[in-house]
Amino acid sequence: VNVPDATDPQAARQAFDTAVAVAGRAPSIHNSQPWRWRVVGAAGELYRQRSRQLQVTDPDGRLLTLSCGGALHHARVALAAEGWVCDVRRLPAGGDPDLLARVHLLGRSAPSSAAVRQAHAVQLRYTDRRPVTTTRVDDSALTAIVAAAEAEGVWLNLLRPDQVVELAAAAEYAMRTERAEHAWLAELAYWTGGTRPTGTGVPDSAIPERATETTVPSRDFGHPGALAVSAEHDRAASFGLLFGAEDAPLGWLRAGEALSSAWLTASELGVSVVPMSAPVEVTPTREALRRLLSRVGHPYLVVRLGIADTDDGAPPLTPRLSPAQITDPPG
Ligand SMILES: Cc1cc2nc3c(=O)[nH]c(=O)nc-3n(C[C@H](O)[C@H](O)[C@H](O)COP(=O)(O)O)c2cc1C
Repeated sequence: VNVPDATDPQAARQAFDTAVAVAGRAPSIHNSQPWRWRVVGAAGELYRQRSRQLQVTDPDGRLLTLSCGGALHHARVALAAEGWVCDVRRLPAGGDPDLLARVHLLGRSAPSSAAVRQAHAVQLRYTDRRPVTTTRVDDSALTAIVAAAEAEGVWLNLLRPDQVVELAAAAEYAMRTERAEHAWLAELAYWTGGTRPTGTGVPDSAIPERATETTVPSRDFGHPGALAVSAEHDRAASFGLLFGAEDAPLGWLRAGEALSSAWLTASELGVSVVPMSAPVEVTPTREALRRLLSRVGHPYLVVRLGIADTDDGAPPLTPRLSPAQITDPPG
């Protein structure tokens, strides 16, 4: 490790310019991108941006923090691909309560090929809400995806068919509960639909044109989108549940890092991932997922895994805020 490099402020700033841009591509709840970066010397600080929190859907900030964990992992991947060796402090004590992580550059060495591959996978990753094909994800890919999640200190449980039935019931109940609330519908309308020139939210191009045939109901965006879907049923999909020891910010942050790690690995292997957060957004269904886990942990997020049907190509990439919009000015 070439330590002096890390003390060069210009090298650090360049490293974080890249890392912040890559982290900006991370997935987030409703593409809200609830993060902000500040570069201080040889460290990059990640803050939660409460003005982009979904106050109705996510009052406790679970999904906000999980989304920020995804950005943190994307930044770590970008730095590792440039050979940076980092020390990451999560929820560092003292000071700003919105500070989620501080990434210190320690020095530089040759990047590993795994890091370079993961950084490349950032460009391949996207959410494909269309039904998956009838080809099952093979066991070796599932094993690699689970290992990638669990390397981040969070469990990823693949659900048995009987558990998928319970999950489907929970997802259905959660969405019915949410749809009955005016404030929730207003928040959904604020973040989704249209063309989204302002750089946040889920555009119609990423929303199916009609309800898809699914085992576990997927997010109801409240209106048809513009994404053409086949008549297939996603019967061959696998479902997983990310869970961990604590229903608190450190667990949620790590869950986001695990989601990113699993998703980048999945993207490398040609496996499509769709997060499904409705059952964790509603308290009774979050409890139902906890029972599904025999109460050994707290549920963070459901994921659907499958082989995407790319015959019609992929939907256009969803928009993002510019790096300048998510970085504090120096000083
Ligand atoms: C914590 C979290 C929860 C999400 N929940 C859902 C969901 O319930 N349904 C869904 O279709 N997409 C969900 N997504 C996917 C986001 O909508 C998606 O990542 C975002 O719109 C950006 O699009 P992209 O992944 O194509 O880059 C979720 C993403 C995250 C990080």
